[in-house]
Amino acid sequence: MAAASEPISPSNTRVGWIGTGVMGQSMCGHLIRAGYKLTVFNRTVSKAQPLLDMGAQLAHSPHAVASQSDVVLSMVGFPSDVRSVLLDPKSGSLAGLRPGGVLVDMTTSEPSLAVEIASAAASKGCYSIDAPVSGGDLGAKNGNLAIFAGGDESVVHRLSPLFSHMGKLNYMGSSGKGQFTKLANQITLASNMVGLVEGMLYAHKAGLDVESYLNAISTGAAGSKSLDLFGHRILKRDFAAGFYVDHFVKDLGICLKECQNMGIALPGLALAQQLHVSLKAHGEGNLGTQSLILVLERLNNLSLH
Ligand SMILES: NC(=O)c1ccc[n+]([C@@H]2O[C@H](COP(=O)([O-])OP(=O)(O)OC[C@H]3O[C@@H](n4cnc5c(N)ncnc54)[C@H](OP(=O)(O)O)[C@@H]3O)[C@@H](O)[C@H]2O)c1
Repeated sequence: MAAASEPISPSNTRVGWIGTGVMGQSMCGHLIRAGYKLTVFNRTVSKAQPLLDMGAQLAHSPHAVASQSDVVLSMVGFPSDVRSVLLDPKSGSLAGLRPGGVLVDMTTSEPSLAVEIASAAASKGCYSIDAPVSGGDLGAKNGNLAIFAGGDESVVHRLSPLFSHMGKLNYMGSSGKGQFTKLANQITLASNMVGLVEGMLYAHKAGLDVESYLNAISTGAAGSKSLDLFGHRILKRDFAAGFYVDHFVKDLGICLKECQNMGIALPGLALAQQLHVSLKAHGEGNLGTQSLILVLERLNNLSLH
C-alpha cells in the first residue's frame, strides 16, 4: 500500500501482525491463506511457528514489524500490552511506521487508549483504528467473528478486504467507539454466562439430563452463542481456555471503570465481575470462562457430573 489511497490487496499491501495467541494465530492464518505477505512478531516465538511454517516472516520487535508493513494489526492481552507494542518509543510499532501507514488494534482494550493511539498516529501522518472482535476462539478459527471498528470511516472501509477474511465488519463511529461496542458486548455476555451456568445447575438439581436440557433450550428464547460455544465444553468438563478468565476479568474491570466515569449502575455486570474474580482467587484465571460453572458448584456444594 504505497499510497494511503491505494486499495488493499495481497499484491500491493504488506501486512504486519503482533500477538499470535489463541485469537491472533487463527486470524493471521486467514490472511496468509488469502495470499497476503505477513511479517509477524510474538513475544514467545514458538507460538508464531505455525504461521512461519505457512510462509510468514518473523520480526524481532513490533517496531521491526511496522518498518516492513503498510498495515499493522495487533491482538495482544491487556491495555498495558497494547501501549507497549504500539506506543513504546523504541520498540513500538508506531515509531517504525511510515506516514500513511495504519495501525489496527484488535485487542479488547480501553476506549481512551484507542483515542490516544489515534491521536499519536495522526501526529505522525499515520492512522489508527480500534477493531476488537467477538465470537471466541471458534469464531477466529472459522473466520466469522463480529468486528467492531472505530476511527476514520474511509480508512475502516479501505481495510475491509482484510477484515473480510476474519469476519463481519461493523463500523461503529469515531476512535474508541469500536472498544465501547465491545465493552457493551461483554456486559451482555457477562450476565448471559451467569444465566447459562445457573440454568445448568438448576436443571441438574431438578434431575434433568443436562445435555438434553441444553439441546432443548438451544432453539428457544434462551438459546445463545454462549450456549453454543460453551455449553458442551462445560458438560465435558473441558475448562481449557478458548477465552481466558483473566481476559474476561480485565474486560469487566474496564466496563466497571467506564460505568463509574458515566455515572451509571449496572448491577448484573458487577455481580458477574465478582463471580469471575472468585475464579482468579482460586488460581483459575488461566482457565476458560466456561469454568464459571465451578463457582456455582462450589457455592452449592454440587457437581454436574
Ligand atoms: N479468546 C477469545 O475468545 C477472545 C475473543 C475476543 C476477544 N479476545 C481478546 O483478544 C485478546 C487476545 O486474546 P487471546 O485469547 O488471543 O489471548 P492470548 O492467547 O494470551 O494471546 C495474546 C498474545 O499476545 C502476546 N502478547 C501479550 N502481551 C504482549 C506484550 N506486552 N508484548 C508482546 N506480545 C504480547 C502474547 O504473547 P505470549 O505468547 O508471549 O504470551 C500472546 O501471543 C485479549 O484482549 C482478549 O480479551 C479474546
